Amino acid sequence: MKTHQPIGILDSGVGGLSVLNEIRKTLPNESIIYFGDSAWCPYGSRDTDEIQRRVFAVTDFLLSKNCKLIVIACNSATIAAVEALRANYPVPFVGMEPGIKPAAAITQTGTVGVLATEASLAGEKFHRLVDDHGSSVTIITRPCPNFVELVESGDFDSPRARAIVEEEVLPLIAANADILVLGCSHFPFLRPLIEEVAGPKVTVMDTGMAVAHRVNHFIPGDIVAPPPSYEIFTSGDLSHLKKEFPILCPDLKASLYHADI
Ligand code: DGL
Repeated sequence: MKTHQPIGILDSGVGGLSVLNEIRKTLPNESIIYFGDSAWCPYGSRDTDEIQRRVFAVTDFLLSKNCKLIVIACNSATIAAVEALRANYPVPFVGMEPGIKPAAAITQTGTVGVLATEASLAGEKFHRLVDDHGSSVTIITRPCPNFVELVESGDFDSPRARAIVEEEVLPLIAANADILVLGCSHFPFLRPLIEEVAGPKVTVMDTGMAVAHRVNHFIPGDIVAPPPSYEIFTSGDLSHLKKEFPILCPDLKASLYHADI
């Protein structure tokens, strides 16, 4: 692996930029090529075959740009496709899954709420995760497709956003959850609102930083890299991305492009 090759990051849309922000903190010298498949967002309501087809197409695109490692910054795509990707491509893949294990380790009430997409919650890999790490606690799941739509449209704090967040979060608090797992890479962008609605006694967790540490594990640290560059591609509307990007990644200078794949 040579350090001048970029890291590739993919997601169904802009959500994976929450993971990009964590990766930049951990690996500030690494160049990154990000692909947000916004034309096909949401993945969360699609079936496994369809998600796999899209993720394979995006992977081909990232590999055509010489990426040395691919981060699947999307729980739905990881759950639906990471095993197939690893079986078909020679590069390392770092995926992400809802943080059931750390949540189960710290809950005081014994009840953990998981906010994720329908595809993630229905996936066999998610059920294995709950069986392996969540069997000693009560896990309550909530599919939140509306959260994805809020983030894709750039609505993080309107009265409508608050009403949607309350509708999903308050039942979990009423059921005594003291940990909320953000099981979708879009959701960290709603974190301030989720925390406000959940109240100070509830811990909100996401796995962006854990993914960044996992990526770090694959990157040799002893070679001096050239100054990093950041290229952000969307299959969706470039002018919308240009408006939203500075809000999602406020301190990042990047080149933004549209790509049809
Ligand atoms: N960001 C994605 C995830 O982590 C999925 C959002 C969607 O496209 O439904 O699951």
